[in-house]
Amino acid sequence: MGCLLLCLYLFLFHFPSFLYSSSLNFLCHHDESVALLQLKSSFTYDTMKTATWKNGTDCCSWHGVKCDTLSRHVTELDLSYEGLDGEVPPQISHLSKLTSLRLSYNYGLVWKESTLKRLVQNATNLKEMFLDYTDMSSIKINSFDLLFNHSSSLVTLSLQNTGLRGNLKKRIICLPSIQELYMSGSYIEGELPQFSCSPFLRILDFSSGDFEGPIPLSFSNLTHLTYLSLTGNYLNDSIPSSLLTLPRLTFLYLENNELSGQVPDVFCNSNKFKEIDLSENKISGKLPSSLSNLQHLIHLDLSYNSFRDQIPNVFGGMRKLHQISLTFNKLRGKIPSSLFNLSQLVKLDCSHNKLEGPIHKITGFQKLTYLSLNDNQLNETIPSSLLSLPSLVTLDLSNNHFTGLTSGISLYSLKELYLSNNKFQGNIPESIFNLTNLTTIDLSTNNFSGVVDFQHFSKLQNLDSLSLSYNGQLSLNFESNSNYTFSTLTELKLSSLGLNEFPMSSLKSSSLKYLDLSNNKLKGSLPNWLPKSMYYFGFLNLSQNLLTSINQISRNSYMLGGLDLSFNLLNGELSPSICNMSYLNFLSMAHNKLTGDRVPKSLSNCRNLQVLNLGSNKIEDHFPYWIQTLQDFKVLILRDNKFHGPIDNTKVKYPFPSLIIFDISGNNFSGPLPKGYLNFFEAMRTVAQVEENSIFQYMDTNIMNDTQQYYDSVTVETKGKKITLVKIPTIFVIIDLSRNKFEGEIPIVIGELHTLIGLNLSHNRLSGNIPQSMGNLTSLEWLDLSSNMLTGIIPSDLTYLNFLEVLDLSNNHLLGEIPQGKQFNTFSNDSYEGNSGLCGLPLSKKCGPEQQSPPSPDKLWSEEKFGFGWKPVAMGYGCGFVFGIGLGYCMFLFGKPRWLVMIFGGQPKRRVKRRTRVRMTNGSTMNQMIQMS
Ligand SMILES: *[C@@H]1O[C@H](CO)[C@@H](O)[C@H](O)[C@H]1NC(C)=O
Ligand SMILES: *[C@@H]1O[C@H](CO)[C@@H](O)[C@H](O)[C@H]1NC(C)=O
Ligand SMILES: *[C@@H]1O[C@H](CO)[C@@H](O)[C@H](O)[C@H]1NC(C)=O
Ligand SMILES: *[C@@H]1O[C@H](CO)[C@@H](O)[C@H](O)[C@H]1NC(C)=O
Ligand SMILES: *[C@@H]1O[C@H](CO)[C@@H](O)[C@H](O)[C@H]1NC(C)=O
Ligand SMILES: *[C@@H]1O[C@H](CO)[C@@H](O)[C@H](O)[C@H]1NC(C)=O
Repeated sequence: MGCLLLCLYLFLFHFPSFLYSSSLNFLCHHDESVALLQLKSSFTYDTMKTATWKNGTDCCSWHGVKCDTLSRHVTELDLSYEGLDGEVPPQISHLSKLTSLRLSYNYGLVWKESTLKRLVQNATNLKEMFLDYTDMSSIKINSFDLLFNHSSSLVTLSLQNTGLRGNLKKRIICLPSIQELYMSGSYIEGELPQFSCSPFLRILDFSSGDFEGPIPLSFSNLTHLTYLSLTGNYLNDSIPSSLLTLPRLTFLYLENNELSGQVPDVFCNSNKFKEIDLSENKISGKLPSSLSNLQHLIHLDLSYNSFRDQIPNVFGGMRKLHQISLTFNKLRGKIPSSLFNLSQLVKLDCSHNKLEGPIHKITGFQKLTYLSLNDNQLNETIPSSLLSLPSLVTLDLSNNHFTGLTSGISLYSLKELYLSNNKFQGNIPESIFNLTNLTTIDLSTNNFSGVVDFQHFSKLQNLDSLSLSYNGQLSLNFESNSNYTFSTLTELKLSSLGLNEFPMSSLKSSSLKYLDLSNNKLKGSLPNWLPKSMYYFGFLNLSQNLLTSINQISRNSYMLGGLDLSFNLLNGELSPSICNMSYLNFLSMAHNKLTGDRVPKSLSNCRNLQVLNLGSNKIEDHFPYWIQTLQDFKVLILRDNKFHGPIDNTKVKYPFPSLIIFDISGNNFSGPLPKGYLNFFEAMRTVAQVEENSIFQYMDTNIMNDTQQYYDSVTVETKGKKITLVKIPTIFVIIDLSRNKFEGEIPIVIGELHTLIGLNLSHNRLSGNIPQSMGNLTSLEWLDLSSNMLTGIIPSDLTYLNFLEVLDLSNNHLLGEIPQGKQFNTFSNDSYEGNSGLCGLPLSKKCGPEQQSPPSPDKLWSEEKFGFGWKPVAMGYGCGFVFGIGLGYCMFLFGKPRWLVMIFGGQPKRRVKRRTRVRMTNGSTMNQMIQMS
């Protein structure tokens, strides 16, 4: 007590001057105050924090500013998430005593190189610097040498998504104190940098960059490393085993690279790992049985690789596992029983493999919420232990050979049930109607039979999507005495159920947006009314029925978004009443018996039209010029009709600004190629228009509000594989003018359609040379100029077409030597046959002294083999397309078309940069996570 009083006495009476000056007189340092005020004035607006910064007051009291208590120097500045924009003023470098600078998430904050340089030179005590999501796009990576090699005090440096670009060229970084380095989302190229003197590095994040080459061996010197993310780069070669033995490494994320080889066996001896993600690489081989050593593992993701053979029965000791993903590999055999025993598992994805046999009794899985075994070869009945898991929310057993359930389903927490494409027989299990939380049921493509009262489904008051399609033996009873509602149902698929009546009255009070009644026996005219919800941008699929007229559609459906009437018996002229649907985005009437000489002009009322498919009818008309002014129009298919006359009308200034598929093949169009159009197809000229993700807005917004796949009724067979073509990817940029009577030369301007992937001008009467400008079509994968009257040589510029997979120049009058090298080394004789003047490889006719080559016996690229139009695209992108089925759709959502790769085994050739799955955005959260786990 005495001491306390003494202290108080000393404090109050012996140091009054200190007390006085620090609170009143001795304000923060003037130059720092000025620097901060300059900082403030360089931003367009005051923010919450800077609003408290007032000239003449102590800057140490300002929000976001902290000072050293003794020296009164500014040591910390935190203006993260303040919405700052403007340039960082050079005076920031006057804050030379800063230890912590946080300016992250100010998207409009721009750094100049000199400012950053001075700051780093002057603020030599900086320990942490968070500058994520500020704009460093004008800074050259070279100037980072300064930062990387002179910041001896930096412990934490976070520069995520700053737009930093450049090439590191095997740079060596020396940050002696660094512990955490976050650099994700940069555009830095070259090999990963080496760390020569950073022994304490714990967290290293170089994800979502442009790094290439192998993972440097020197990383294995980073013995303190606990967290390593190199996700989403272009790293190749195998995973260095020394990396995997790093004693403290517990979080390892290498997904979405091009790593190959096998998983090194030492890997599994490092039993400290908590999370391992090696997905989306080219890693192969068996899954090592030493996996069982990974007893602390919580998260294992080996998906999208080439692992083969059996899943080893090693999960007995891996009791902490929460998540396992093995999807998209080549795993075979039975699912091991120890996997079914895991008690902490929340998510299990073994889809898209070749697993077989029945599912064993499940003894664990009490916490499992997600189970996908989709697309395997599992068979027999589903055990009751699976049908009663207490926590399951999503169950996907689609695409297997299951024949039945061993008991009723008592998965009361289930929301999504996918059983499509199996061999389920008998009645639809009644127990489904007790699962009141269900939102999605897909029982399509099975052998269910019996009669189902459709009203039963109304018990499921959360049901959003129901598919019963392709159960030929199933009868639906839509009649009912009582009133029932489907107030949540937005998607209903009743394809191929032998329906001969429209079920509309049962759906009166539904909230349907998508109704698929394709491939039934619906006759006569379109229904004269739809569920009310459909009128607002709904999609109605009535393809493959027996409808003969469309007289009634127009009355209420003026806001219908999409209508598929392909493969019906519609005859006569196209009714002008269709044009009352001015909100129509999608209209297909392909494969009907439409005749007449006018596509109704009033269709141009449909200002929102994006897709028009009138292929395979008997329409005799001139080219429907009126479409050219529709701003969003993307796909025009008029193939196999009797359209005729020249196409030369380009009165409008920018015709077809959004067109990406132009297919008018198999008509009687004549005159020169429509040069005027080729000149102006804006979307085909500029890459910007065809970025991934800009897939039909219509499908994503107006109808669906999410990315559900609505067009799955269009299924085609290519090379014996069924492909469901879901959406038209905007990178399918195609022109097909084949089988017409076009004459004259190929216009040079064609070389400007840089995004073109397929070009078919075959079977016309084209003459003249192949324009050299075609060498600019660098996206081209498929080029067919066969059966014309082209003369001259094959321009050597065509060797620039690095993606070209199919080339057909046969049956022309081409001369001279076939260009050699690159893609041209991959084409065979058939590409050139019927041009007696050509010589050189692959033809046996040598150039120079005349030599006759024998006629090639088999005509590989003939119509019989490849059909016309779309099919060769399957070669290029591995994606089958329309032929005889109407318009096809091909899903291509993000980045690598993985499913295409899976189906065809080829590699997608385009490197599409993905910037998804940023694991953590904030360094401190990540650190907490590591500390906690
Ligand atoms: C702060 O106030 C002083 C005196 O009123 C003035 O001279 C100075 O220019 C002001 N500084 C800033 C940055 O506004
Ligand atoms: C460095 O900081 C000092 C104050 O410590 C300041 O006077 C000087 O102007 C600063 N230099 C630069 C280049 O900003
Ligand atoms: C690891 O560090 C040691 C000693 O500092 C050095 O000799 C060795 O070359 C380093 N290894 C790699 C692969 O960089
Ligand atoms: C289930 O699949 C396994 C493995 O392919 C096979 O041996 C077995 O005969 C199949 N069972 C039935 C009932 O078809
Ligand atoms: C159904 O869902 C609700 C809301 O998500 C949840 O509270 C409830 O527990 C679920 N019912 C069952 C049986 O799991
Ligand atoms: C549905 O639930 C009710 C009430 O719990 C129960 O009596 C009935 O047996 C269940 N029906 C089926 C088919 O499981």
